[in-house]
Amino acid sequence: MAFSLFTKHSKPLLERCRSDYATKMRLKYAPYYHAMEEQAGTRIRLRGREMIMLSSNDYLGFSFHPKVIEAAQAAIRQWGTSTTGARPSNGSRTYHLRLEEALAEFLGREACHVHSAGYLSVMASVAGFAQKGDLVLADKNLHSCLWDGIRLSHAAVERFSHNNPDDLRQLLETAGSDVVKMLVIEGVYSMEGHIARLPELAQIGQQFGCFTVLDDAHGFGVLGRQGRGTADHFGLTDKIDLVCGSLSKSLASTGGFVSGSRETIEYLRTHSKQTIFSAAIAPSQAAAALAALQLMQSEPEHLERLWRNTRRYVGILKSLGLDTWETQTPAVPIVLGSRENAYRFWSALLDRDIFTVMSIAPAVPPGKDLIRTAVSAMHTDEEIDRIGEAMAHAVKSL
Ligand SMILES: Cc1ncc(COP(=O)(O)O)c(C=O)c1O
Repeated sequence: MAFSLFTKHSKPLLERCRSDYATKMRLKYAPYYHAMEEQAGTRIRLRGREMIMLSSNDYLGFSFHPKVIEAAQAAIRQWGTSTTGARPSNGSRTYHLRLEEALAEFLGREACHVHSAGYLSVMASVAGFAQKGDLVLADKNLHSCLWDGIRLSHAAVERFSHNNPDDLRQLLETAGSDVVKMLVIEGVYSMEGHIARLPELAQIGQQFGCFTVLDDAHGFGVLGRQGRGTADHFGLTDKIDLVCGSLSKSLASTGGFVSGSRETIEYLRTHSKQTIFSAAIAPSQAAAALAALQLMQSEPEHLERLWRNTRRYVGILKSLGLDTWETQTPAVPIVLGSRENAYRFWSALLDRDIFTVMSIAPAVPPGKDLIRTAVSAMHTDEEIDRIGEAMAHAVKSL
């Protein structure tokens, strides 16, 4: 028999994939990766049934706005589908500069840089600045992209209790005074819907010389004047060093941004690997985001409608005795406390043609297993009525 080099060793990594418990459970209960067959605004078709989408991040409902669609189509006609290159080399176009200038001006910052994913922008906002020997002060409930940025930076990290300025202060009081410090927070916490206690947190950060990074993926478009975000909501734009976020939520596109002073953005362009070695945002993505940004300023009715829908929807959930983790925004969790209850509730909503997303520990703190829902300006009154009826049905399933 011929000796084969390729049969000699087994592959432990393949065995890890094959026997992975979490993957087996995901495939068995199939709560994720549902491929919708169609979408038109808040309506989707899933397994042949028409449903209402109740967990998109399309807060302002711009993903089907005719002006946004037209802008994306026109950009493809003008620029093609992709730059197929990174910004420092062959990937920079004038449409990138237009979007960056428009975002910087809207946010009241000197400069801005856009990436092809929010995840990259947010990760780069930490990893591009903090380094070995520095200390990062991080809210315990940060999004995964911020943790990845912290890990990549090789800085030391101290976690403070979620949205707790006293805990942050205590940590800072025991930190060495000459260590370089970065404070990392979110404007609106995406799972909880909580608004950062920015006045206290920013003031403490300032007092201890922290460089402050604010991920405002869920505050942008939702809070502040015309949706300028959490820093604007509190009138604290000049107290935050970097505001980063995503184009895939209120701006109805995909991509992300980092905004700050000119010198910080130029530093990012020199040092951040996510910025230097990843292909530039595509023409259609940038054009959709720019059109949505213009709509935020010319059509304020969407933001008003978003908040009206949020108040009505949260009111319905409260009247049913559901725990919304004291959300303050259109990101509305329904806390069910165990993965079994979360699964039952999620399935009952699906039976009534309401699409939501289940989020269980370790993605949320233990005991906080939840259904993550989000309201859009696009939801009609009739849809919110139907959602309310489905919620009442799901409550009975518990
Ligand atoms: C708080 C937060 N930051 C960053 C991101 C990443 O954004 P994107 O999905 O555009 O990559 C998300 C997306 O879920 C998020 O919720």
